Amino acid sequence: MSFNRTPIAEVLQTDPKSQEITVMGWVRTFRNNQFIALNDGSCLKTLQVVVDYENADPALLKRITTGAAIKIVGSLEASQGRGQKVEVKASSVEIFGDSDPEKYPLQPKKHSLEFLREIAHLRFRTNTFGAIFRIRHAVSFAIHQYFNDQGFYYIHSPIITGSDAEGAGEMFQVSTLSPDNLPKTEDGAVDFKQDFFGKATNLTVSGQLEAELAALALSKVYTFGPTFRAENSHTTRHLAEFWMIEPEVAFTDIHGNMDLAEGMLKYVIRYCLEHCHEDLEFLEQRLINEEKNKPQNERSPMSLTEKLEFCVANEFERVTYTEAIRILKNSKPNKKKKFQFVIEEWGADLQSEHERYLVEKHFKKPVILIDYPKDIKSFYMRQNDDGKTVAAMDILFPGIGEIVGGSQREERLDKLTQRMEEMDIPKEEMEWFLDTRRYGTCPHAGYGLGFGRLVLFITGMANIRDVIPFPRYPGSAEF
Ligand code: 4AD
Ligand code: MG
Repeated sequence: MSFNRTPIAEVLQTDPKSQEITVMGWVRTFRNNQFIALNDGSCLKTLQVVVDYENADPALLKRITTGAAIKIVGSLEASQGRGQKVEVKASSVEIFGDSDPEKYPLQPKKHSLEFLREIAHLRFRTNTFGAIFRIRHAVSFAIHQYFNDQGFYYIHSPIITGSDAEGAGEMFQVSTLSPDNLPKTEDGAVDFKQDFFGKATNLTVSGQLEAELAALALSKVYTFGPTFRAENSHTTRHLAEFWMIEPEVAFTDIHGNMDLAEGMLKYVIRYCLEHCHEDLEFLEQRLINEEKNKPQNERSPMSLTEKLEFCVANEFERVTYTEAIRILKNSKPNKKKKFQFVIEEWGADLQSEHERYLVEKHFKKPVILIDYPKDIKSFYMRQNDDGKTVAAMDILFPGIGEIVGGSQREERLDKLTQRMEEMDIPKEEMEWFLDTRRYGTCPHAGYGLGFGRLVLFITGMANIRDVIPFPRYPGSAEF
C-alpha cells in the first residue's frame, strides 16, 4: 500500500483553489508556533504549512519539531508571505515520527561539510545533500539515456573476479578462508584451491576486460557499476569504492572513442542544466558564499552554471602527450620549480598538478591528452607505430584533473601477448581474454568515466567524499 499524498514539487506548481491536499515530509523549521517549513525530498524548496495554533492541541504543537516526520491534510491557498506562491492551511496534523530537538544532530543552521560527513546517515536531509543526490541521480539517468539512444547495451560485469584488469595490483581480496587457520600448500603459500571459488579472487578494479568480450559480439556495450581500488590515496578525488561507466565499441579507433566520450560528457552536462535548474542554482550560490572568504585570485573565474555551459559550448582541446610535456617543461611553475614533481623529461607520468595546469592555466578548457608513453600505461592499450607510445586518451577537466581514461585496444594477438610478457601479466589466467584476439579480432576502443568525478564537477563540490552517500576511503567504511 502506498499513502495517498502529493509530492511537494508538484504542490508548489499547482494553482491554489482552496482544494484539499495531503502532504507528508520532514519538518525543517517551525516558526511562531504557526509556520511549518516542510520538505519531502521531491525538490529543494520547502512547502509552507500554516497551523491554526489557537485551535490546536498544545501537546501536538510541541511535537512539531525540526526533523519530525508528519502528515498534513489541508487546503491549498495562495500565500501572502514572501518567497512562495502557495501554502497549505492545515486542517489536520499527524505525527509519524517525533524528533527530539534537544538531541537531533541537524539544527536549522549551517553545518560544516566535515561534520556532515560524520553524520552521513542524516545529511540527506540538508539542502546541500538533497541537491547533490538529486543531481547524482540525474547524471546516472542521463548516462543510461545517452548510451541507449546510441544503440548501446548495458552489460553487468562481475564484481568478484580473479583478474586484475589494470595490472596495478591495487585489489581487495575476497575470501571465506579464516585468517586464523589458513590452509597452506606444500611450499607454505596460502592454498586458495580450498577457498570458496577454488582460486584467489578479488573485487573488480574495472569491468573493461569483460566489456571487451561483450563488445566483440554486440558491437556497442557499456558497464555501469561499482569498482574497487585498494590504493592508499588520501585525496579529494579518490575513493576506495567508486562507480565507473565503461563503454566498449567494436570497429572504432581512438578518434571515434574521443568523439563518443566528448559527446557523452556534453550530453550529460546539458541534461543537468536543463533538468536540475533549481538544485544547480542552489549549489552555485553555495559556492559563491563559500568563496567569499577566499582571496580574489583563488575564486573561480566562472560561476557553476557558466562553467557547465562553457564546457558544453566549446570543443575539448586534443593534444598529444609529447606536446603537453613540451608545454609543461616551458611553463613558469616548472621553471621556477613550483611543481611538487618537476617535469624533467619525456616519459614522466603526469601528476594532477600538471593536468590542472594544462586545463586551468594553459588551455583554459577541457583537454584530451593522447598517445602516452607505453611504459606508464596498461598492457591492453594499442601500440602506436613509433614503438614508444600507445593509443591512450585521458580527458582532463578543470578543478578535477583526469575524469576519463581510455584507449584503443591492442587487437593484434602477437603484440598483445608480447606486451603482457614484458609487463609480467600472467597469460595462462587470461586465455579467455586472448581468445577474442584469436577468433574474429577487430579494432575496438573504450574508456572509463569516473562517475563520482563527473558528479563532483557538475555539483561544484570540492571533495568526492561529499558526492557519494557513504564514501569508502583508507581508514573509513562507516554505515
Ligand atoms: O584510468 P582508469 O584507471 O581506467 C580504467 O580503469 C580503464 N579500465 C577504463 C577503460 O578504459 N575502460 O580509471 C578510469 C576513471 C578515471 O579516469 C577516474 O575518473 C576514475 O575512473 N577513477 C577513480 N575515481 C574515484 N576514485 C578512484 N580511486 C579512481 N580511480 C579511477
Ligand atoms: Mg587513468
